[in-house]
Amino acid sequence: MGSVTKTKEWQALRAHREEISGQHMRDLFAADPDRFDRFSIDLDGLLFDYSKNRITSETKSLLTDLARVADVEGWRDRMFSGERVNNTENRAVLHTALRNRSNILVEVSGKNVMPDVRRVLDQMRALSVSVRGGIWKGATGETITDIVNIGIGGSDLGPAMACRALAAHGKDGLSCHFVSNVDGADLENVLPRLNPETTLFIVASKTFTTQETMLNAAAAKGWLTGALGDDAVAKHFVAVSTNKEKVREFGIDTLNMFEIWDWVGGRYSIWSAIGLPLAILIGMNAFEDFLAGAEAMDAHFCETPLEENAPVLLALLGIWNNNFLGASAQAVLPYSEALARFPAYLQQLEMESNGKSVGRDGQPAPAETVPALFGEPGTNGQHAFMQAFHQGNRLIPADFIVVTKSAADLPVHHLALVANAFAQSEALMQGKTEAQAREELSAEGISGAVAKALLPHKVFPGNRPSNTLLLQRLDPKTLGMLIALYEHKTFVQGVIWGINSFDQWGVELGKQLAGNILPELVSGHSIKDHDSSTNALIDRFNRYLKDGE
Ligand code: F6P
Repeated sequence: MGSVTKTKEWQALRAHREEISGQHMRDLFAADPDRFDRFSIDLDGLLFDYSKNRITSETKSLLTDLARVADVEGWRDRMFSGERVNNTENRAVLHTALRNRSNILVEVSGKNVMPDVRRVLDQMRALSVSVRGGIWKGATGETITDIVNIGIGGSDLGPAMACRALAAHGKDGLSCHFVSNVDGADLENVLPRLNPETTLFIVASKTFTTQETMLNAAAAKGWLTGALGDDAVAKHFVAVSTNKEKVREFGIDTLNMFEIWDWVGGRYSIWSAIGLPLAILIGMNAFEDFLAGAEAMDAHFCETPLEENAPVLLALLGIWNNNFLGASAQAVLPYSEALARFPAYLQQLEMESNGKSVGRDGQPAPAETVPALFGEPGTNGQHAFMQAFHQGNRLIPADFIVVTKSAADLPVHHLALVANAFAQSEALMQGKTEAQAREELSAEGISGAVAKALLPHKVFPGNRPSNTLLLQRLDPKTLGMLIALYEHKTFVQGVIWGINSFDQWGVELGKQLAGNILPELVSGHSIKDHDSSTNALIDRFNRYLKDGE
């Protein structure tokens, strides 16, 4: 295909942008009573409304042409079939095999991966049943009441997000805690609240070499053995990793290790044993429902024409907003406290996957890639950053995620929450015209020069794009669907931008440099071979530290 921006499909979209630039969504809605039906997709318990985007039927058709010329369907099939689509690491990308509950064979280099997947799922079930049933005993014969997951990035964000999202489905008397940061405060915030006799640690690290995780795991081990002795480790530590040697070296019995594989990317690993805290919290049957939800989204992604394919359209609308309408950020706004960690989860999924400026072919990426993604649960964001969505002069598209059935016992709160979500997307789309603003001012008795001066500040341009995902309920299956929807969105965008969404070389440089600086902080002597800023910061840190002694 060459550069996507040189295709006639990309050029057609550029021309089309000019053609429709004067149109306001307000008028598009007014002219077409079927706009919602035309631009929404009803999946099982998940409604995807994308009608509040600056699009027409022609935009949609040009965008799907772009997906076709970029060979989204071909890349999708190659990924699902176990081809090594992660070219810079020469790896297959098979998180979809982790939720393949049919008997479809999935091979990597001629080896069917499904027996291994099922073996680890069985091992997860055994631990989940045993901990939940009080059969697993700690070193002093106590049952487990607290799970502490120690991991970072993909080994933390997925299970932390999902355990919070599905807390209402959790087992009474069992709590999950997550420690990720190498700031010791993270571990210290958790451990003093726990009893070592009733605590089970899950050390989750694909590589088992990640600095933050290894330091936290060693400190947790010290805390445990300090209280219960060295032999207690066997009853209070399990590991999730690809690296048997390192797990053994750390002192965890490899019988208590849950295997993952190099074809599972960290940010796509919630479906693997990295999901163990969730499987224990909600039980293995519910975890299987979670997998089933993702599998249903996989089937939709593979079998539905591009025009009605939710992840493909979510991706294409992102491309339209980002590459053609100039948005450089994307907000994700769950109107749900349970989904409070969803934006953080998506930040890794989308920004670590597609934060690239070089294409698969080693040439500069032909277009701007991932926008900055951020979000907070509604309605909090309304009282903070959303002013900029309404009246700022940069375009910030938003995804609203709304849950119909609340887990909380305050129904009026829930209706107020949902009313706010729907109102925000309506306000962003409609805006407020000058005539409406003038009328409001006059109703308040403001006229003349004061009204004239205030008027420009009271106008909302509207025409601001948003999607709404309305979930019937936040249960394991729907959460599985939602996550898989965004995974495939990320994949489709990577294909169109011509980049490899499955490596993350960009995180390495900082790790290397931290490795150089650490000895200068440990010794208190700077070597002064950095730039003047870094040299000065190291010197001043060491001096402050000494002065404080
Ligand atoms: O530093 C980035 C990263 O490699 C992520 O991609 C990954 O999810 C995280 O670190 C944790 O890695 P590990 O599971 O190997 O500890």
